[in-house]
Amino acid sequence: MRTDAELVDAARRAAEKAYAPYSNFRVGASVLTSEGAMFSSANVENAAYPVSQCAEANAINFAVSQGMTTIPVVAVACIDAADVAGAYPCGRCRQIMSEFGVERVLVTTGVGEVRDHSLDDLLPFRFEL
Ligand code: THU
Repeated sequence: MRTDAELVDAARRAAEKAYAPYSNFRVGASVLTSEGAMFSSANVENAAYPVSQCAEANAINFAVSQGMTTIPVVAVACIDAADVAGAYPCGRCRQIMSEFGVERVLVTTGVGEVRDHSLDDLLPFRFEL
C-alpha cells in the first residue's frame, strides 16, 4: 500500500516535468486510486493562457482514462520557491476531485509542510448530481 509520503514524493517528482514557461509555477500532482494504483502528472501551460491545464486535473484525467473511477487521495506539490502558502488546488480542480470520490487532499507548502485536508473542507456545499 502506498503511504502519504510516497504520494507526496511522486507529486514533487512529477512537478519536475511541468511545462510552465509562462508562470514559472511548476506543480505536480499524484493520485491514489481505490485499487492502490498511483498516477502522477504536472501542469501544462499554453501561449493562450486559459488553455493551460492544472497538474491535479491532468493526474485525475490520466487515472480515469486508464479505467480508474474512485480516487480517495490526491497529493499536490509546487517546487518553486514562490509557493510558500501551499499548492492549494483551484476551484475547478476541486470540482473535478469531487466527481471521482476524493476524500483527502495532501497540500505541500514551500516550507516543507504537508497539510492533510478533507475535500469537504476545501469544497463545502459542492455541486453533485
Ligand atoms: N496550477 C496547478 O497546476 N494547480 C494548482 O493547484 C494551481 C495552479 C497551475 C496552473 C498554471 O499552470 C500555474 O499553476 C499558475 O497558475
